[in-house]
Amino acid sequence: MFVTFEGGEGVGKSTQIRLLAGALEAQGHAVRITREPGGSAGAEAVRHVILSGGAESHGVRMEALLFAAARSDHVETLIRPALDGGSMVLCDRFMDSSRVYQGITGNLPEPLIDGLERLAINGLRPDITIILDMPAAEGLERARARAFKAAELANAVPDRFEKEELETHEKRREAFLDIAARDPVRCRVVDASRSVEAIARDVLAAVEARISERQDAGVEA
Ligand code: TYD
Repeated sequence: MFVTFEGGEGVGKSTQIRLLAGALEAQGHAVRITREPGGSAGAEAVRHVILSGGAESHGVRMEALLFAAARSDHVETLIRPALDGGSMVLCDRFMDSSRVYQGITGNLPEPLIDGLERLAINGLRPDITIILDMPAAEGLERARARAFKAAELANAVPDRFEKEELETHEKRREAFLDIAARDPVRCRVVDASRSVEAIARDVLAAVEARISERQDAGVEA
């Protein structure tokens, strides 16, 4: 079973993935955790190009193609083989992030995003996508606190640029919720502004429900 986690920055995806992996392993499932951009050797090489800012000057279209190239490598060399080998795969971001970051806030046309998605995933759609949702300001603050801590810049002050950033985050939040509304069978929206434990309970319940549905339909978890 292929589980993806989506949401804005600072919503706590990596913590929840770790907790879900622990709970599923305790139930006897083999679990593989991975992330995008990256996850496989080819995709990690592309991750470096994208996140270092190296592709930024070449435009959003170029970035979208690179994300798709990385995703294709990730799907074919890691995700599909792990699933075929009987593992559950938990992935931090996947195709919905391209739809939101490159498509909505990057202003790329939907047909281009659709085409890149088809190429990159090559038929491998997530069985369930957990969308961690919280007010944009809260997520932004958490992401910033984490970044400042890492950079030891605790006394940075908000400015005009950061206000623009908030509007972008709000747009992304709405775009993730829109994806969930359009694909309600695959997507589960989880309120991420609660305690870590409460969120983890809901995430596990959603995944367990999907496992039972699949077992009822005669598919191995
Ligand atoms: P990362 O440092 O992994 O951040 P996060 O903890 O938020 O996941 O950086 C991933 C960044 O790449 C994040 O800002 C979202 C962005 N991204 C896209 O723009 N498109 C994509 O398809 C993916 C997978 C990520």
